[in-house]
Amino acid sequence: MAVLLQIQNAHKSYGDQVLLDGADATLIDDVKVGFVGRNGAGKSTLLRVLLGEEELDAGEVLPHPKLRVGYLRQHDPFLPGESALDFLIRDSGQPDWKCGEIAGQFELKGAYLEGPVAELSGGWQTRVKLAALLLHEPNLLLLDEPTNFLDVRTQILLEHFLRNFREACLIVSHDRAFLKATCTHTLDLTRGKLTMYPGKIDAFLEFQKERREHDIRVNATVQAKQKQLQRFIDKNRAGANTASQARSKQKQLDRLKTTEIEIDDPTAHMRAPIVEPRHGPAVRCEDLTIGYPDHEVASGIILEIEHGERAAIVGDNGQGKTTLLRTLVGSLDPKKGNVRWGYGCEIGTYAQHVYTTLPKDQTVLEYLEYKANPGTTNQQILAMAGALLFRNAHVHKKISVLSGGERARLCMAGLLLGTYNILVLDEPGNHLDVETVEALAEALLKYKGTVLFTSHDRHFMKRIATSVIEVRDGQAKNYMGDYDAYLYAMNKEIDDGERELNARKAAATKPNGKPSKPVAELSEKDHRKLRKEITNIERKIARLDEQKRELNEKLLATTDPDEALRLHNEIEALSEELGEAEERWCELNGT
Ligand SMILES: Nc1ncnc2c1ncn2[C@@H]1O[C@H](COP(=O)(O)OP(=O)(O)OP(=O)(O)O)[C@@H](O)[C@H]1O
Ligand SMILES: [Mg+2]
Repeated sequence: MAVLLQIQNAHKSYGDQVLLDGADATLIDDVKVGFVGRNGAGKSTLLRVLLGEEELDAGEVLPHPKLRVGYLRQHDPFLPGESALDFLIRDSGQPDWKCGEIAGQFELKGAYLEGPVAELSGGWQTRVKLAALLLHEPNLLLLDEPTNFLDVRTQILLEHFLRNFREACLIVSHDRAFLKATCTHTLDLTRGKLTMYPGKIDAFLEFQKERREHDIRVNATVQAKQKQLQRFIDKNRAGANTASQARSKQKQLDRLKTTEIEIDDPTAHMRAPIVEPRHGPAVRCEDLTIGYPDHEVASGIILEIEHGERAAIVGDNGQGKTTLLRTLVGSLDPKKGNVRWGYGCEIGTYAQHVYTTLPKDQTVLEYLEYKANPGTTNQQILAMAGALLFRNAHVHKKISVLSGGERARLCMAGLLLGTYNILVLDEPGNHLDVETVEALAEALLKYKGTVLFTSHDRHFMKRIATSVIEVRDGQAKNYMGDYDAYLYAMNKEIDDGERELNARKAAATKPNGKPSKPVAELSEKDHRKLRKEITNIERKIARLDEQKRELNEKLLATTDPDEALRLHNEIEALSEELGEAEERWCELNGT
C-alpha cells in the first residue's frame, strides 16, 4: 500500500462561501473511493484542484512521483468525422489492435467502432471515453458523476469495468446504488471538512447517523449533570462551610462540555405549478416516424397519453428516447405523421443537457426574473430562490460558476415558476443530490398536470411512473401500467424470446454438428442408456428453466445494481447451460 496523493490543510473559498476549511485526506493506491457531499459542497472544485486546473487558497496537495491521473472528460474530445477507433489511436498513441482490444471491453465493435463517433449517443460516447482513459494506463481515476446520461445497461457495464479495474479511483456520484456497487471507501465533504471512511456508502451513512445519536445521548447526560452541578453551586456558594466545595464543583462544571451536533444542511423545497386537473387525451401520435434527415430512429409510432398520466420513456442509450421527446415537444419535426396536443396544453420542457441551455452570463436572480410569469413579485422570486437554496449573495452569482446540481436546480426552478400543465423532463435527476431528487419526486406526485419523463434512476421511475413507453428497435410501445407492470411484461418477453432463440440455435447447429447415430441402429442396451440420458436432460432443462425464471424475477425486482449485475451474470451462465442442454436433447432425439 502506497500513498498516491495527500491533501493537507486545504483552504478554498469563493467570496464568503467556504468550500474547504482545513481539509485533509489521503488517497492510497488500489483503493476505490466514493466521493459524496451535497450539491455545491465543492466536490468538483476539489477534483479541479487535484487536476491542477484550480489553485488552493492555502494548504497543499502532495502527489506521489509515480501518480498518473486519468480523468473522465465531460466535454467531447472528438474531431469531426473521426471514428471511435481513429480517436482512440490519436488520443492514446497506442497501436490499433490494442485500441480494438480495450474497446471490446466496452462492447465497442463494428459500426460503433468504425462509424463516426460524433453520431453515437451519449452512452456510447461515454464508453469510447472510458476506453480512451484506460489506454493511458492511469493509476488514479477521477470520475465526476459518470452515470449521468447512462442507460441501465451501460451503468452496469461501467460498474463491471470499475470492479475489474485494479488501480485507485475517486468517484463523485449522487447515485448511492452505483457507489455501493463500485467503491469500498467513502470520502465525505461537508462544511469544508473531508472525512475518509474505510467502508461503503451505506456503512458510512449508518456510521454518521449513529455518531449523531451517540452525541445527542452524551449531550443529554452532560446537560443533566451541568444542571445538577449548577444547582449545588448556587445553593452552597455563599455558605462559609460549603464555599470551597462549591468552587471545586465549579471547576468540574467548567470542564464539562457538550459536543456540537451538526444539524442537517437545508434541503431544497419544490412545488410544481398548481393546475386544474383535466381529462381525455393530452397528446396523440398517429403513424409517426421520428429521426433526422438521413437517419430514421423509429417509425409507425401510435401513442396516446392521457391527461394526468406520468409516462416514463425508457430504452437503451441510442434507441431514441430523447429524439421522441424532442419530436413530441416540437423541437424536432416528425419525418412522417403528426403529433397532436389537446386544446390548451402548455408544455414546459427540461432539456437533458442543462449546461448548454442556461445563459451563462446571467445571474441566478436575473434568470429567475426572466422566467417568472408577469406579475410575479420580487419577493415571490426571492422566496422561490430561497426554497431552492439560493440565498443571500448566492442569488447574484453568475450561472457560469454554479455547480452541476445548482444549475439543474435553477433550470427546474425556472420551469416550476411557470403555469405549465404538461411537463416534459429529460433526465431531471441528473446532477441533483439524493435529497433534492426526493423533493422533486414529492412535487411531481402532487402535480395535477401530465408528466412525460426519462430517467435512469430506477427508484425515481418506480415512484413516479403511471405508465411506461419503451423505445426499442425502431418502435415505441406504451405499456399501460406502472413500472412494475412494465418489468413483468419485459421479463416475459425476455423469457419467451430466449427460449425461441435457443430452439433456433439448436436447430441451426444441428446440420454441422456431429452426426448422431440413427436410432434404429442402436442395441437394446444403448436404447436404455439413451432414454435414461433423455429423461435426465429433460429434468435438467426443467430445473434450469425454473431457476432462470426465478432469477429473472429477482433481477427485475431488484433496484440494487450490485445485485443486478450478479443476477445478470448468473442468468447468462444458466442460459448457456440451458442452451447446451437443449442442444443435446435435440441431438439425442434425432431432431
Ligand atoms: N468561480 C467561482 N466563483 C464563485 N463561486 C464558485 C466558483 N466556482 C464554483 N463556485 C461555487 O462553489 C460551490 C461548489 O461548487 P462545486 O462545483 O465544486 O460543487 P459540487 O460539490 O461539485 O456540487 P454538485 O454536486 O452540484 O456537482 C458552488 O456553490 C459554486 O456555485
Ligand atoms: Mg460537481
